[in-house]
Amino acid sequence: MKDLLLRGGRVADPASGLDAVRDVLLREGKVAAMEIPGQIQAPDAEVFNAKGLIVAPGLVDIHVHLREPGQAYKETIASGTAAAAAGGFTSVCAMPNTIPVNDSPEITRWMQAPDRGASARVFPIAAATLGSMGEALTNYSALKDAGAVAVTDDGKPILGDGIMLEALRSAAKVGLPVIQHAEDTRLTGGCSMNAGALAFRLGLRGMPVEAESGLVERDLSLLKKVKGGHLHVAHLSTKKALDAVRAARKSGLHVTCEVTPHHFALTEERIGLYDTNAKMNPPLRAEADRAAMIEGLLDGTIDAIATDHAPHAAHEKEQEFDRAPNGITGLETALGLAISLLHVQHKMPLPAVLALLSSRPARALGLTGRGALTVGSAADVLVFEPAERWVFHAADSRSRSKNTPFDGTEMQGRVRLTVGDGRVVFRAPR
Ligand code: DOR
Ligand code: ZN
Repeated sequence: MKDLLLRGGRVADPASGLDAVRDVLLREGKVAAMEIPGQIQAPDAEVFNAKGLIVAPGLVDIHVHLREPGQAYKETIASGTAAAAAGGFTSVCAMPNTIPVNDSPEITRWMQAPDRGASARVFPIAAATLGSMGEALTNYSALKDAGAVAVTDDGKPILGDGIMLEALRSAAKVGLPVIQHAEDTRLTGGCSMNAGALAFRLGLRGMPVEAESGLVERDLSLLKKVKGGHLHVAHLSTKKALDAVRAARKSGLHVTCEVTPHHFALTEERIGLYDTNAKMNPPLRAEADRAAMIEGLLDGTIDAIATDHAPHAAHEKEQEFDRAPNGITGLETALGLAISLLHVQHKMPLPAVLALLSSRPARALGLTGRGALTVGSAADVLVFEPAERWVFHAADSRSRSKNTPFDGTEMQGRVRLTVGDGRVVFRAPR
């Protein structure tokens, strides 16, 4: 592997607080040196001119669906991580709702094997219960030994009080977070969007806000009983659930949460005339909930932006709205949307935006050595042009699936170069 010298960029490392112009030398998969411009002697290194660009830690997405094993027609680990690299992500946490469900150390190891051809580091999240059936716990210590960084039944909730309490207790014993897909499915059967006037008008059954907040409140009351327990709430979408997390955090509970770009960028109005590329779970909500997500990002209550990248084939999305599967792709639009909404529109400083996409998600799931850019850390680097406005075209996506509501959307902040473990995994076509 050739040395790579990133010359003259503005290094923004939210983990250390560094925000200054530096040369950065990447050698043998590590950040070897970081100095004021002109100081590093590396005559044999390939030079990348980063003048006017931001050099940041490679982004960390703690919620993606890579569809392998079992549904390679939607996505593979190779194609999904290629999309990740194009979006600036060098680490992704892969959800277990594959076919079969990743509830074993064997599948957990298989997903990380070099043969998968990944362009980003894959951290598996294993199923919390066997087959994600919500009945019997998987073996958390064996899954952790195999590389799992958390447990969840994402796609479905861990619904029963007893099994959720057991999951929190067993996970605490081995130091893993339990990630909850907070949806009380007793209230959402047959629903395909947010509950409210719009659902009524469209003639669709709606998921009430309380289906999310009720389960979050239940989980927080269980968490109180578990010494050392850590609950992470996936794709939070409602003000009511966010308020519950905020209060619990103040009372000292170890609860973290994430929000997706679509839940802070869009509302249910985006469904328009039954556009299935605006259908996901949790659904797009009303404006007051979207505004609350922005608020939670600005005030620090929300720990991470996570995409919930959920590829589906065109023939699956081209169905009646209530029959189409839930989910949208998100890896290539997350950075642009975060910069456009949070930095440009709401004046959040760029390092704070980057923290939500790197250091803070890495910390939330304990991904040591990721989401930081310091001498000695993994050579996971994102170089991007913060001011460039560009239009995302789904047809250009590296993902096997194109199910996104952001096709044709203009955004600000464009990836130029992504380096994962010292290897160039994406270079923008010029
Ligand atoms: O929109 C979603 N898609 N929500 C989920 O919970 C699952 C995911 C998927 O796997 O497609
Ligand atoms: Zn989910």
